[in-house]
Amino acid sequence: MPRRSLFLLAAAVVMLYFVIIMFMLSPLNGSKSSFYGHGYMNHFSYRQLPAVNWCKELRWRSPPAPHAVALVSYPGSGNTWLRYLLQQATGIVTGSIYMDHSLRVHGFPAENVTDGSVLVVKTHEAPPLEPDKFKSAILLIRNPRDAILADFNRLHKGHIGTAPKSAFKKKSNEHKKSDWATYVSHQLVGWESLHRLWLTRFPGPVHVVYYEALVQDTRAVLHGIFDFLNHTITEYDMNCAISHKEGIYRRKKKLQDFDPFTTEMYKALDGVRNRVLSMVADYQKKQNETVRQNAVK
Ligand SMILES: *[C@@H]1O[C@H](CO)[C@@H](O)[C@H](O)[C@H]1NC(C)=O
Ligand SMILES: *[C@@H]1O[C@H](CO)[C@@H](O)[C@H](O)[C@H]1NC(C)=O
Ligand SMILES: *[C@@H]1O[C@H](CO)[C@@H](O)[C@H](O)[C@H]1NC(C)=O
Repeated sequence: MPRRSLFLLAAAVVMLYFVIIMFMLSPLNGSKSSFYGHGYMNHFSYRQLPAVNWCKELRWRSPPAPHAVALVSYPGSGNTWLRYLLQQATGIVTGSIYMDHSLRVHGFPAENVTDGSVLVVKTHEAPPLEPDKFKSAILLIRNPRDAILADFNRLHKGHIGTAPKSAFKKKSNEHKKSDWATYVSHQLVGWESLHRLWLTRFPGPVHVVYYEALVQDTRAVLHGIFDFLNHTITEYDMNCAISHKEGIYRRKKKLQDFDPFTTEMYKALDGVRNRVLSMVADYQKKQNETVRQNAVK
């Protein structure tokens, strides 16, 4: 190559670098503080999330089931993620007693559908909602520390962002307690009562799913759910769902450089959690006895 073209090529490369650097420094390229200070997923908002790659085209349940199955959870417990996994594995839409517009346009077309035309129906409410609406329920339980934190993040930053540190320090009045501390104690009462009511007041069968188990052994926990739903699933469909399990709905785990929970809060969290875990054990023991008695009959 002649020396002159080499020189021109080098000059062009230098220019290109210069332009790229200018572009990256330019304020038009989005503010850095919002990138680091808050969850960037939320900053760009749902509208710009990639489309979901479904294993199969989503459809309604056909024929529709005579009754809807509730998918109950406390907010922040992975309800959307479980719905996503169920839709991946079965291709059947999941419903909700709520109408979340951002979910509706991002893979959950059956928001606000609560009948047997969907696989399960999301709810955060205590039973009985409408009598006879649900004959059975899946109860998704996440440890209250993570659920409360996830929901606090949701309130501040949408479905997949994280709340800024300052949000945990805010005090809106003269109280010694921060708003966050007040929030945690209220949520703990709600967390305990939601689980207690479904385990004691709901007449139909309740299938308990632990979020932590779902994360650890997604396949086995999904199999348990499909057994409960009497839904047969091929190994092929299960493999596809598992290979897509990350999805776009999981909040990115951010390294939090501080723990917003105090020792006192941890004590309260443990107490509430242990009470609910023992309620579940009692419930399952009773359920096993009923199953055994029916088997004898
Ligand atoms: C939800 O569905 C009901 C009927 O099933 C309808 O009356 C209501 O307007 C819907 N809500 C929204 C927010 O679309
Ligand atoms: C699954 O089938 C059993 C036995 O037929 C039935 O009792 C149960 O209600 C069904 N479960 C669901 C969630 O439909
Ligand atoms: C109930 O039965 C299941 C399966 O048969 C078993 O895994 C579980 O440990 C039993 N639970 C209790 C509380 O007895």
